[in-house]
Amino acid sequence: MTVANMVEARSCFKLLYAIVVVLLLHMSSPCIGCSERDMQALLALKQGLVGDDGDRLLSWGREAQNKDCCQWEGVYCSSNQTGHVVKLDLQDQSLRGKISPALVNLQHLEYLDLSFNNLSRSQIPDFIGSLSNLIYLNLSFANFGGQIPNQLGNLTHLQYLDLNNNAYSDIHAKNLNWLPNLSGLKHLDLSFTNLSDVVGWLEAVNMLPKLRNLILVGCYLPPPVISSVSVMNSSKSLVHVNLDGNNLNSSIFQWLSGTHTNLVDLNLSGNNFNGSSIPASFGNMSSLEYLYIYSSELEGGIPNSFAKLCRLRELALGSNSLSGQLSDFVETLSKCAQKTLEILDLSRNHDISGSLPDLTNFLSLKHLLLQSNNLSGRIPESIGQMSKLETIRFEGNSLEGVISETHFSKLSKLSSLILSSNSLLLNFSFDWIPPFQLQFIRLKSCKMSSFPKWLQTQKNYTSLDISDAGISDTIPSWFWDLSQKLESMDISHNQLRGTVGNIRLEFAPYLNLSWNQLEGPIPSILSKASVLDLSHNNFSGAASFLCATKDSNLTFLDLSSNHVSGELPDCWINFKKLVFLDLSNNYLFGKIPTTMGHLFSIKTLRLSNNRFVGELPSQLKNCTKLTLFDLGENNLSSSIPEWLGASIPNLTILILRGNQFYRSIPPQLCHLTGVQILDLSMNNISGTIPKCLNNLIALAQKGNSSLTIQHSYTTQMGDLLYGWDYEEEASLTWKGVRSKYKSTLGLVKSIDLSRQ
Ligand SMILES: *[C@@H]1O[C@H](CO)[C@@H](O)[C@H](O)[C@H]1NC(C)=O
Ligand SMILES: *[C@@H]1O[C@H](CO)[C@@H](O)[C@H](O)[C@H]1NC(C)=O
Ligand SMILES: *[C@@H]1O[C@H](CO)[C@@H](O)[C@H](O)[C@H]1NC(C)=O
Ligand SMILES: *[C@@H]1O[C@H](CO)[C@@H](O)[C@H](O)[C@H]1NC(C)=O
Ligand SMILES: *[C@@H]1O[C@H](CO)[C@@H](O)[C@H](O)[C@H]1NC(C)=O
Ligand SMILES: *[C@@H]1O[C@H](CO)[C@@H](O)[C@H](O)[C@H]1NC(C)=O
Ligand SMILES: *[C@@H]1O[C@H](CO)[C@@H](O)[C@H](O)[C@H]1NC(C)=O
Ligand SMILES: *[C@@H]1O[C@H](CO)[C@@H](O)[C@H](O)[C@H]1NC(C)=O
Ligand SMILES: *[C@@H]1O[C@H](CO)[C@@H](O)[C@H](O)[C@H]1NC(C)=O
Ligand SMILES: *[C@@H]1O[C@H](CO)[C@@H](O)[C@H](O)[C@H]1NC(C)=O
Ligand SMILES: *[C@@H]1O[C@H](CO)[C@@H](O)[C@H](O)[C@H]1NC(C)=O
Ligand SMILES: *[C@@H]1O[C@H](CO)[C@@H](O)[C@H](O)[C@H]1NC(C)=O
Repeated sequence: MTVANMVEARSCFKLLYAIVVVLLLHMSSPCIGCSERDMQALLALKQGLVGDDGDRLLSWGREAQNKDCCQWEGVYCSSNQTGHVVKLDLQDQSLRGKISPALVNLQHLEYLDLSFNNLSRSQIPDFIGSLSNLIYLNLSFANFGGQIPNQLGNLTHLQYLDLNNNAYSDIHAKNLNWLPNLSGLKHLDLSFTNLSDVVGWLEAVNMLPKLRNLILVGCYLPPPVISSVSVMNSSKSLVHVNLDGNNLNSSIFQWLSGTHTNLVDLNLSGNNFNGSSIPASFGNMSSLEYLYIYSSELEGGIPNSFAKLCRLRELALGSNSLSGQLSDFVETLSKCAQKTLEILDLSRNHDISGSLPDLTNFLSLKHLLLQSNNLSGRIPESIGQMSKLETIRFEGNSLEGVISETHFSKLSKLSSLILSSNSLLLNFSFDWIPPFQLQFIRLKSCKMSSFPKWLQTQKNYTSLDISDAGISDTIPSWFWDLSQKLESMDISHNQLRGTVGNIRLEFAPYLNLSWNQLEGPIPSILSKASVLDLSHNNFSGAASFLCATKDSNLTFLDLSSNHVSGELPDCWINFKKLVFLDLSNNYLFGKIPTTMGHLFSIKTLRLSNNRFVGELPSQLKNCTKLTLFDLGENNLSSSIPEWLGASIPNLTILILRGNQFYRSIPPQLCHLTGVQILDLSMNNISGTIPKCLNNLIALAQKGNSSLTIQHSYTTQMGDLLYGWDYEEEASLTWKGVRSKYKSTLGLVKSIDLSRQ
């Protein structure tokens, strides 16, 4: 989700970028003319490389107008008379192919950037080690694979080495013995290189006296073996260290302890510190501005020594097992960081408790993420004075009390307000005009006495959740004048009345209006959604609204328990992405349309408790992914189709209960080896029970490994991929009692052939 991404994003590369730009300016002065040797080397290089989408490097050629190779695209020469190529910038040229060994003839080359190309998992060529004047080498995002050549150790002038993000799970190194040769290195990025075998990586890094930036993200780094020598020798020049997503244990803390007084930015997230606390020595890192250690199994609180971190801007310790009173965390940080701290992320620690203290001393605080903890008590009104706040995430705690306008008096910059799943009561005056324009409004289970009128002032939100808010009110017509950027709306589980007004929607991935008292016909525009839940309302009219949309993006459609009536339209050819369709408990009648056979993605199909008649169309046998098929309580009459057993291998729940199916049970049903619930009761079935029913092994076996039957699916909307899941539910009648199963459905096994 965007807020989290924003907080997790790094700003540490700005400084580096500035350095690179300076280097670049220094080199790009005009030059006099290109040497023949360099020109030939470049032409050989071009020959080995082709553009992904046609010709690239068009200016590289011998034609009259191109004869000075110093003028070629991406080529920069030294400023003196000799005209040697000193810089080659081929970043993002969609180049594929092979790097010609003629490259080494560019003996004056100081800067080489081949990033964002596709070298098809080939190895970084050994001969790059002969470009002995290189200062800057950037081979990031270039799809290099194989082993990193030791010959890089010959590049003794190198200051920047960036191999970030090459062929993942292919590029690797067995050792870094060559690294100490690069004694002038300032920037090292080997992220997403497999270094799982490099036990001595820390020793190698320690021998780089000028190293400022160390970036080894997702390298499978093993825990270093820390000797007292390596602690002593640890690099004092380091400014940015990012070891996110490795296999480190808490032994790394010893290396970082004490000596790193220049460290500005430290990221140790995604490691396993297995219950250790944050070491007190981190408080000695007096330059520290950014500390990120989330998802790393830390325990305890923050050490008192953090009171000495006077420059701290961002502290992200989410998704650990930290514990203690929030007020203790805050008190320690307020000693010195209160003017600087911009991000405080203690989310998902589950055990940080106590009430929210006054935070107004934190004059710069922008993002406050305390969700999924054990916080209780009231939210102090003073939070409304924190005029820099952009994000408030308190969801999933036990906060209580009344939230009023005072809580927001000066929050003009607020863009994310997430208070879901607490015990809060929102009480604003009727004509409140909030000072903010929110992007995320998530207030699930925050109680409101009437429909929140202040929403009328919010013109820009992408996400709205006011579900389970106890609202018993009519939805005002202005509400439907929704932002064009709406991605998700959940107003379910209230007692909202009225009709769905005139909405404009380009597309909206998620619309949940279920469990209200909404009425009237369903506007066809709603079928532009991807997930649409209108169940448990009083919607009426025909289902033909669905046919207005061609090539629908609907993946989940729940219209169950409404008053939808008439014949089902025959336009299902437009719903090839539909995974879940529930039309049960309505007043639909007539035949089941044949185009339903085009629901190629359907996994759950419920048509129960309507008045469908006739046969099941044989086209449905193309719905091969079906796992739940519920036709119960209709007036269908035919023999039980053989294809149910023959064509739908993964059927887990089949309910034909309460129809007029006749004749005998076809032996093909015995193919349904995964069936857990087979309900053929209350039909006119006769004959003998097929002997092969003992093939239904899922029915006979004990239990299922999971409690629920869950399905997940994705929907592509523009550039974004959204993932959803849902749990199946089913009703069974046993000894005359009808019960619903959902949270334990995985364990339910039942076969019912009874007459009633
Ligand atoms: C010209 O520049 C090149 C590369 O930067 C250097 O090797 C050479 O010594 C310089 N020549 C003069 C005359 O400055
Ligand atoms: C790189 O090129 C190879 C073919 O040489 C192709 O199979 C692969 O998909 C390309 N990778 C990317 C990321 O474009
Ligand atoms: C290397 O190139 C990539 C992509 O062009 C860029 O993002 C990165 O900052 C460069 N690395 C260095 C050290 O300049
Ligand atoms: C480069 O380094 C290798 C060892 O890794 C060495 O054998 C070779 O002689 C070196 N080549 C040059 C040109 O310095
Ligand atoms: C390190 O550099 C020396 C020359 O300074 C060279 O002889 C040696 O081969 C290099 N080692 C590696 C591993 O490249
Ligand atoms: C990383 O390398 C190790 C040893 O070479 C290997 O066992 C492991 O599977 C590799 N990991 C990945 C994700 O490729
Ligand atoms: C300590 O670092 C220096 C260079 O800074 C290096 O020469 C020496 O070998 C290192 N010692 C150990 C034990 O790593
Ligand atoms: C870290 O891992 C290393 C190597 O597996 C082990 O020797 C060391 O005891 C571990 N340290 C801690 C604190 O778990
Ligand atoms: C509306 O939201 C976008 C992000 O979706 C944001 O960049 C913009 O500043 C917001 N506009 C207003 C008026 O708040
Ligand atoms: C249904 O599946 C059969 C093969 O089982 C295929 O011949 C037929 O074209 C499919 N129907 C549609 C509408 O795709
Ligand atoms: C049935 O389920 C298996 C396992 O989940 C899956 O691999 C297979 O594709 C499914 N078959 C169909 C026709 O959907
Ligand atoms: C389906 O989504 C795509 C974007 O992914 C959009 O271009 C298209 O218009 C949508 N189709 C409908 C019928 O809304």
